Amino acid sequence: MPLDATPAPLVDSFGRTVSYLRLSVTDRCDLRCTYCMAEKMTFLPRRDLLSLEELARLSDIFIRQGVRKLRITGGEPLVRRDVMDLFRNLSGHLRRGRLDELTLTTNGTLLARHADELADCGVQRVNVSLDTLDPERYRAITRLGDIRMVLAGLEAAQAAGLRVKLNAVASRGMFEHEVDDLIRFAHGRGMDLTLIEEMPLGDTGLDRNESVISLRALQADLANRWTLTPERRSSGGPARYVRVAETGGQLGFISPMSCNFCALCNRVRVSCTGRFYSCMGDEGSVDLRAPLRRSVAEVQSTIRQAILMKPERHRFDLSRMAEPAVSRHMSALGG
Ligand code: GTP
Ligand code: 5AD
Ligand code: SF4
Repeated sequence: MPLDATPAPLVDSFGRTVSYLRLSVTDRCDLRCTYCMAEKMTFLPRRDLLSLEELARLSDIFIRQGVRKLRITGGEPLVRRDVMDLFRNLSGHLRRGRLDELTLTTNGTLLARHADELADCGVQRVNVSLDTLDPERYRAITRLGDIRMVLAGLEAAQAAGLRVKLNAVASRGMFEHEVDDLIRFAHGRGMDLTLIEEMPLGDTGLDRNESVISLRALQADLANRWTLTPERRSSGGPARYVRVAETGGQLGFISPMSCNFCALCNRVRVSCTGRFYSCMGDEGSVDLRAPLRRSVAEVQSTIRQAILMKPERHRFDLSRMAEPAVSRHMSALGG
């Protein structure tokens, strides 16, 4: 097929159309969040990573096949030294109307440095991870982090005109008391907040039974103190949103464990080494790096075949949190 012909949409064997690619540019991170990583991690040798030129070429192939939303992830995407060159390159797709959204998920520590340039590249919103407002708890959760860097990042992002969604992984204990402050903090600054159920990805050295909570239960508890009205709007992502009447802000719930959303899944993932994952909650993956080094047609057909193997749903189960459902850590794909 000529490169500019319009290919058929990417549809899996359950009739779900894939229009969203999450592209990881590194497995490294400057933090070691307890629910994400083990304290000691071995990262991939740099020579195994796709080059920026390859990441851009791969993105182009996905966009030609119907991807309209591209999220850059990590590890922490902003620790990759040349990542802004990739954003520059990808912004061309936005300008030409070939992409609806270019965005990223970040821990925010390096956001202050890059916010202006991201906005300049056409990025309109960023998702920033922040699980607590307490500097000491932040340090304990991230093992390495300084919350002031993230707060500076949030300020810079908003000053640059970026909309911000905060992501907080809900956990048993302190979080249940702090969540009200997070709601006030986010909504008071015009940010959305999304709460996430911990997922059993990779061995962190900690027992997830100790930390996991069901967002169903947390939402019921929040409803005792806040007026929560379900929203129809969807970002095209897995979150269910409610409006908080007292703040006027939006609160999202990503509840893969207690409220499955796989039937609406529109996304696929590619790791920084060029492995394609049709589902985050499944071990299955195929290599795109070798095909990419041979021909565009081979990449296209590999993607199409792999999408036909996309599982109907993930393997996570709240009653089996002790063992990882998937051996890879969340940081390998950035969620
Ligand atoms: P928007 O809706 O576009 O703002 O993004 P998002 O919430 O989908 O993306 P983000 O990177 O902020 O991810 C938030 C959380 O949702 C992370 O913990 C992800 O791992 C999780 N998540 C995103 N997509 C999926 C999915 O397809 N399945 C599951 N189980 N979790 C997902
Ligand atoms: N379960 C749920 N969310 C996780 N994140 C990292 N590890 C996990 C996990 N095991 C979150 C981060 C970030 C997003 C990309 O994924 O906090 O917000
Ligand atoms: Fe890094 Fe994000 Fe994992 Fe935390 S959750 S260690 S910030 S990749």
